[in-house]
Amino acid sequence: MSAPLAARDVVLVTGASSGIGEAIARRLAARGCRLALAARSAPELERVAAACRAAGGEAATFPTDVAEEAPCRAFVAGAAARYGRIDALVNNAGISMELRFEEIADLALVERIMRVNFLGAVYCTHAALPHLRATRGRIAAVSSLTGLSGVPTRTAYAASKHAVRGFFDSLRIELAGSGVSVTVVYPGFVATDIAARSYGTRHVHDAHAMSADACARQVVDAMDRRKREVVMTARGKLGRWLMLLAPALVDRIAARAIARGR
Ligand SMILES: NC(=O)c1ccc[n+]([C@@H]2O[C@H](COP(=O)([O-])OP(=O)(O)OC[C@H]3O[C@@H](n4cnc5c(N)ncnc54)[C@H](OP(=O)(O)O)[C@@H]3O)[C@@H](O)[C@H]2O)c1
Repeated sequence: MSAPLAARDVVLVTGASSGIGEAIARRLAARGCRLALAARSAPELERVAAACRAAGGEAATFPTDVAEEAPCRAFVAGAAARYGRIDALVNNAGISMELRFEEIADLALVERIMRVNFLGAVYCTHAALPHLRATRGRIAAVSSLTGLSGVPTRTAYAASKHAVRGFFDSLRIELAGSGVSVTVVYPGFVATDIAARSYGTRHVHDAHAMSADACARQVVDAMDRRKREVVMTARGKLGRWLMLLAPALVDRIAARAIARGR
């Protein structure tokens, strides 16, 4: 049985300026963890860092665009220099879309989504791995239920989240015996601003969405236990089995979920 993340453990969180990443940071701060927070918005990162300090943790901010390799390397190097070790990396930064493939006028959108959601995690993980090997640390990657099935209006987003799954499932096998755990998480709808920031139609999702804090609790619990994955929501769990038995039914469920916004 693995020990949970504890006070003074050093945890790097990308996409920490809002939503799920902010909730993960606040939760770990309450345990006394030392945090390195990355996202693009410096003021929002400072707001979250102040909340983390007030909650009992240490927090340093690293304004970073994870779409590029050099800033990701600078983030990880800066965090390691500041704290002297890295115990965990949470690859959470992400952007979404809500438009059909044929409505995409400029395919740069597809590249941007792949860069932020997939390559950002690859860059940060590559930079952090030597440090994580040294501490027998933990990696978490935030995929999505959209990383487990097809979802209309999310073609590039689904591709990026499937890529996250394939990459980290493969890396987990490579790291067997190293002591470094790899946890992939698959949230359903979570009540954050991601939809408002999406490319394309801006739907406001309904009140049935999971709270960011409830999602963060599951992410941190899975990292504590070094679980290989967490599929959130009953529909997500059921969908995994249905995919084997009746994949066309899963397609219809996905289409209906998008039409309803939940
Ligand atoms: N909300 C959901 O329903 C849901 C469901 C499944 C999975 N997820 C996944 O959960 C993760 C967090 O999303 P969220 O719902 O918490 O959304 P959010 O509130 O919009 O947070 C996204 C975070 O990513 C950061 N980010 C975006 N682009 C970035 C870039 N180029 N470089 C660095 N940071 C960047 C944002 O900060 P800046 O804008 O300041 O850079 C923000 O901190 C994402 O990977 C998302 O795909 C969300």
